[in-house]
Amino acid sequence: MIDLANPELLRTEAYIGGAWQGSEESYSVQNPASGETIAHVARHGSQSASLAVDAASAALPAWAALGAGDRAQFLRRWHDLIVANTEDLARLMTLEQGKPLAESRGEIAYAASFISWFAEEARRINGTVIPGNSASRRLTVIRQPVGVVAAITPWNFPAAMITRKVGPALAAGCTVVLKPSELTPLSAIALAVLADAAGIAAGVFNIVSGDAPAIGDVLTTDPRVRKFSFTGSTPVGKMLAAKCMGTVKRVSLELGGNAPFIVFDDADIDAAVSGAMASKFRNSGQTCVCANRILVQHGIYDRFAAALASEVAKLSAGDGLADETNQGPLINADAVRKVTAHRDDAVARGARIIARGQVTGPAGGHFARAALLVDVPEDALLAREETFGPLAGLIRFDEEADAIRIANATTAGLAAYVFTNDHDRGVRVSEGLAYGIVGLNTGAVSTEVAPFGGIKESGFGREGSQFGVDDYVSLKLIAAEIKAK
Ligand code: SIN
Repeated sequence: MIDLANPELLRTEAYIGGAWQGSEESYSVQNPASGETIAHVARHGSQSASLAVDAASAALPAWAALGAGDRAQFLRRWHDLIVANTEDLARLMTLEQGKPLAESRGEIAYAASFISWFAEEARRINGTVIPGNSASRRLTVIRQPVGVVAAITPWNFPAAMITRKVGPALAAGCTVVLKPSELTPLSAIALAVLADAAGIAAGVFNIVSGDAPAIGDVLTTDPRVRKFSFTGSTPVGKMLAAKCMGTVKRVSLELGGNAPFIVFDDADIDAAVSGAMASKFRNSGQTCVCANRILVQHGIYDRFAAALASEVAKLSAGDGLADETNQGPLINADAVRKVTAHRDDAVARGARIIARGQVTGPAGGHFARAALLVDVPEDALLAREETFGPLAGLIRFDEEADAIRIANATTAGLAAYVFTNDHDRGVRVSEGLAYGIVGLNTGAVSTEVAPFGGIKESGFGREGSQFGVDDYVSLKLIAAEIKAK
């Protein structure tokens, strides 16, 4: 039973063309802290996805033609409603995703921040006038909405990954069809309830979920979809991007990471430990920017390991609605199995577990006990693949060049972290890391005001910040030939 102050937020249908669409079939949504079913959501497929593209196409001309200030007003209203409903949205999120309530509240604020940021940016989607290449030439470049946008978003941030895409799309004058993760659809649908209440016109924002492959097929192949944005795993991102090329869509991809977290001998040890805790254990280790490999220089290694161990021992995995919980469950049993496999593989290769957290959550929940491993070899699974769970592994290194070599020895390139009190080294190493984001003496790099995105197989495109609109606009050159009077 989901008890909300505003029960209207709890809907289970698709939202297409401003109307709520049920379906004969449904799929169930589970609470990962208990395994219990909390809702049955309408299961839609390719037909509904096509109807949603119809609706988004029909709504596009009027939405794109609105004044930027008017679009900004709608976004502002949506933002205010999200903020006003924080408690309910956070509760829904904790129930379907598992993260502790405090983290869910934080994510709602984070999600809302993208809407307010892009409400402001809507009025700054400026063009450029270029001096003509002859006396009779006038060259004007304008930025126009790219068209209908399709977005597929993940379960780890059920609200913020939506607003980070839909905010700039709507600000630019695009319309959107969203397929949220089938593991966490309730948060997405609640955002649509609030978009509707904010007066955003029918068809501007549509949501369809259910048969993910069938919906994904429509969103990646329908020629009316001109832009496709995906956050999720690297293999799925590659497959979807390849399909998009059949109709040459604009694509942006936020894919997996394998973040190195480098601690030099000269680092502030307390700052490095709190940065590592924030980066590694946020959302139970289920973020693309989570520290995945903690590289520690030999001179500070034992002290850092001991200090981190005492923090890891304080982690308590349980029901996110319980006060004592500071670590939620993982999303499902497969996620727990992966963490266990990475831990066992590292131990088999000579690593040692020096600290463990507790599990206080109910039986049936997908809990993984946090663990800290030392002496992890560079070729351990947890160093090569994204663990996406509460397992921290320390790798020892000697010289600055070794740290950069180990850090860059991956196909991923999303986020990296460096802790040092030597300014020159901080700059040098940050520049040498092949990553889209570097946290220098901080474990928290995500904010609506800065660009988020990776290089290499972590994807392309940037979300948030002044650059976040770029993926939703096309440049148009108007080359005018002027007759002399
Ligand atoms: C992600 O894990 O994909 C997003 C994390 C963030 O925005 O900080």
